[in-house]
Amino acid sequence: MSYGLLKGKKGIIFGALNEQSIAWKVAEKCHQEGAEFILSNAPIAIRMGELNGLAEKCNAEVIGADATSIEDLEKLFDAAIAKFGKIDFILHSIGMSVNVRKGKHYTALNYDWLEKGWDVSAVSFHKVMRVAYEKDVMNDWGSILGLSYIAAQRTFPDYNDMADNKAYLESIARTFGYFFAEKNKVRVNTISQSPTMTTAGSGVKGFDAFFNYADDISPLGNATAEECADYCVMMFSDLTKKVTMQNLYHDGGFSNTGVSQKVMEKYQK
Ligand SMILES: NC(=O)c1ccc[n+]([C@@H]2O[C@H](COP(=O)([O-])OP(=O)(O)OC[C@H]3O[C@@H](n4cnc5c(N)ncnc54)[C@H](O)[C@@H]3O)[C@@H](O)[C@H]2O)c1
Repeated sequence: MSYGLLKGKKGIIFGALNEQSIAWKVAEKCHQEGAEFILSNAPIAIRMGELNGLAEKCNAEVIGADATSIEDLEKLFDAAIAKFGKIDFILHSIGMSVNVRKGKHYTALNYDWLEKGWDVSAVSFHKVMRVAYEKDVMNDWGSILGLSYIAAQRTFPDYNDMADNKAYLESIARTFGYFFAEKNKVRVNTISQSPTMTTAGSGVKGFDAFFNYADDISPLGNATAEECADYCVMMFSDLTKKVTMQNLYHDGGFSNTGVSQKVMEKYQK
């Protein structure tokens, strides 16, 4: 069902890799709701070829950009300006930790890898907004979103240095959100999503266990990628104009639940 919530809105969606990706679902829903957008990802991800199918389906252009490269981002935003003039929304759905990928323990982090993951997962959010800000590409009352995880607030041992990256990401949303609101009423938020079966998600050690645990604790169950996409659409729509500088939990109630009946039953002797 379409409500036309994003009719006439233009944007850039970063981070659709394959059908499981949260950004993939966001692109499908944004298209359904009437938005036009550019799909961007790291050149290596684009070479994998899956993105073309999504682009065709959504009538979107694909433009590669390493989100850690100001030069790539400048080219991408210039292309967006040439295509759309100004834009209304940006989704930053990007994350990667070399320490997680290579199974390095948190207590023995490789700091070169930490810096790489921090740049990709957190600083790139600043870089994307910086280029958008300097090029004055956002329409008034536009909306910018990043995706986060509750490991920014609570310890999930195997989430490793991604926890620190997410804390940094959420802080960037608050601080840049202030300046973007002052400049042209643009809002900036992060959505803290439930564990979701994607390439990035399932790369975390023991992912199945904390997916199932979160599902058992959350009174509404884990939020799916499609449900996350619905929330993103709402945040890009004009129905949320005064929501800014927030970390918004989209987790079926996980963040405010101490224990659930389901978990209690597992421990009752
Ligand atoms: N899957 C989960 O459990 C979960 C939960 C909460 C938050 N998130 C967050 O959601 C976001 C999207 O992840 P996902 O779960 O859809 O996984 P995903 O693997 O489908 O998406 C991650 C994306 O980041 C892109 N990327 C990596 N390096 C890049 C670079 N240098 N430049 C541009 N793009 C780059 C990848 O190509 C990929 O498209 C991430 O920020 C992730 O941390 C995921």
